[in-house]
Amino acid sequence: MPRFDVTIAGELNLDLILYGLPEQLEPERELLADRMTLTLGSSSAIVAHNLAALGSRVGFQSRIGNDPLGRTSLERLQESGVDVSKVRVISGATTTGLTVILYHEQWRNILTYAGTIAEVMWDDLDLHYLSDSRHFHFSSYYLQKSLRPRVAELFQYLKSKGLSVSLDTNDDPDDRWEGGLHDVLRHVDIFLPNEREACKAAGSEDLEDAVRSLSQLVSVVVVKRGRKGAIAQRGSERFTAPSREVVAVDPVGAGDSFDAGFLHEYIRGADLQTCLISGNLAGALSTTRPGGTEAFRDAEHRKKFLGR
Ligand SMILES: Nc1ncnc2c1ncn2[C@@H]1O[C@H](COP(=O)(O)OP(=O)(O)O)[C@@H](O)[C@H]1O
Ligand SMILES: [Mg+2]
Repeated sequence: MPRFDVTIAGELNLDLILYGLPEQLEPERELLADRMTLTLGSSSAIVAHNLAALGSRVGFQSRIGNDPLGRTSLERLQESGVDVSKVRVISGATTTGLTVILYHEQWRNILTYAGTIAEVMWDDLDLHYLSDSRHFHFSSYYLQKSLRPRVAELFQYLKSKGLSVSLDTNDDPDDRWEGGLHDVLRHVDIFLPNEREACKAAGSEDLEDAVRSLSQLVSVVVVKRGRKGAIAQRGSERFTAPSREVVAVDPVGAGDSFDAGFLHEYIRGADLQTCLISGNLAGALSTTRPGGTEAFRDAEHRKKFLGR
């Protein structure tokens, strides 16, 4: 039996979230937030953290800087039970990345200093470690600039070792959706975009069109639709599941938490409907606390919400 259920190679950093800022960010003024949270961020790390919180065995590879933000991210990830022994701490000019999220009444700003996120590279990977697993997940395709050119090769290798592979690109900050994505998708078993990302990845404005064309490339296309829940397409089969109604604090990391909930069931051989329900439940749980992992860290809250 492999050592891990899921291995992940990706970015590791914190999110700094400020709530209650004025609608207008006037230059040169001191503007006050009324609450703040410094929490584990980054899609790859949120998926890993929440999979471990759900009870999966997770191995994680990354690169961080030799700095306080890097150390705090690593501690947070480790607390959930993820194996972080292969995370490399590199002293140098590039420090650990950081995302700052500014909440206003109607909208938010998301500002990212990529730092080490863009510098996780092939040489940081231990292929033997990554392949000692049933499944491999990759997130933040467009932020991981150093690794991106070799992602297709990485997927091909891991599949040859018997792993299944999932991908959540998340957004492309350049909004170009290039970089060989379609070639990469040919080696993916489960693609997990949100609605907007599905359309962008397919180059279509119509979601149904997008799902149709993506499902020609990937065996299972799962589209996350916020409060509308999620759908999955496998060949000509369609699965649909509504979201769980909650009082949401913020949607940060909901998509990554959905990935964790979905994959936790998928690797146990569950049918796609069960995977969707589990994804929606995990996504909804994530919105009940700030950031993407706070609701999963609180074991009592998590168990009560999930009913187990
Ligand atoms: N307000 C909400 N209420 C309940 N569930 C939600 C809410 N927002 C998100 N979710 C759940 O989280 C999943 C992912 O959220 P979504 O916003 O679609 O993805 P992303 O964070 O990648 O943009 C949704 O499919 C849904 O299951
Ligand atoms: Mg997402």
